[in-house]
Amino acid sequence: MKRLQNKKLKVVSMFSGCGGMDLGFSQAGYDIVWANDFNEDACETYRKNIGDIILGDVTELDVPDISDLDVLTAGFPCQPFSNAGSRKGIEDPRGQLYKQTFKFIEKLKPKVVVFENVRGILSTKVVTGNLIDEIVDTLTNEYGYHVKYRLLNLSHFGVPQKRIRVILIAVKNKNYLDHIFPEVVDNKDLSIRATLKGITNRLPNQKEIMRLNPQAIHYGSMIPEGGSWKSLDYDILPERWKKIRDDMVKYHYPNFFRRYARHEIQGTITAAFKPENAGVWHPTKDRIYTVREIARFQTFPDDFIFEGRNIKSKYQQIGNAVPPLMGMLVAEQLKHYCYTTEIGKLKRSKVESTELNVNQPIYNQKIAVNIR
Ligand SMILES: C[S@@+](CC[C@H](N)C(=O)[O-])C[C@H]1O[C@@H](n2cnc3c(N)ncnc32)[C@H](O)[C@@H]1O
Repeated sequence: MKRLQNKKLKVVSMFSGCGGMDLGFSQAGYDIVWANDFNEDACETYRKNIGDIILGDVTELDVPDISDLDVLTAGFPCQPFSNAGSRKGIEDPRGQLYKQTFKFIEKLKPKVVVFENVRGILSTKVVTGNLIDEIVDTLTNEYGYHVKYRLLNLSHFGVPQKRIRVILIAVKNKNYLDHIFPEVVDNKDLSIRATLKGITNRLPNQKEIMRLNPQAIHYGSMIPEGGSWKSLDYDILPERWKKIRDDMVKYHYPNFFRRYARHEIQGTITAAFKPENAGVWHPTKDRIYTVREIARFQTFPDDFIFEGRNIKSKYQQIGNAVPPLMGMLVAEQLKHYCYTTEIGKLKRSKVESTELNVNQPIYNQKIAVNIR
């Protein structure tokens, strides 16, 4: 057993981005033997911090020759599934990219498959019904996996951000399915205050901040901590905003210029980083978050350096990423499966993530935690 555990587990990473998930797997001691993305800036960041990555469109690449593969991960593009996007879903060519993963699974036969995606994947339709069902059916019937997927609030795992994502894990031995997701983490201070603690200008990417237009700075600066554009007097609003305020139902109650308070958990860091409609105003300063600050909310360590031609690209790389902490927790849990820990030893001491309300932070649900 000991000798087995000294062997590094191998990972093939598709749609790797700047490497959020992969960093988590390497922190857990895995060896990323192949990674790919077609975004030049993301690959530059990946190379600087993690290792080799193939720059190119996955649809034009051959599946590599790799034996004894342990894990295949894929965070295929989420734009077509995202609620914020067009919801063209499967008709969008980007929505077909999940099929590339089957090409890899067929040849490489990984022991485990890990997919990460946005909540919208659960309601995306395909000709045969739901996309998620098609994915599960294909993994089950064509490739012989047992599959479990969950909608998770990553703040329940210590990520200091309300980030709701679907994680799907497929394994060959169904006895492990009940033990395949990591345990919740309930003892961490996830407040913005704690998350931004200790950041100084000397840290990489801390001086990088998206330039805003004067109107954005003007109104953003007037918003109190914990407020949004709704905290501003109607009379001082520009005409365009007054129109929205006059008919909030029609515009679905937009929460422009949200400025979270220091004691709150940060809202989702997205790739479509827009100062007006994402909650990215610093709680106490007259500016939005820097690249380093949003990297903190995504749990990237301070020595992880973001590369790329401009600041927008860095915000996008970070917003697209799986928080490394989540990747690491999944990777650690999967070791039990890969190294075949006895099932009897895999008892859980905390409630299951499925028993928690995905829309609420864990501290609101403390009663349920640690009851076993
Ligand atoms: C949601 S991000 C994945 C993030 C990554 N899992 C992480 O943890 O950082 C999706 C990635 O897919 C990449 N991508 C989209 N279409 C692609 C294609 N045809 N070939 C290769 N990469 C592609 C994008 O550039 C983007 O970085």
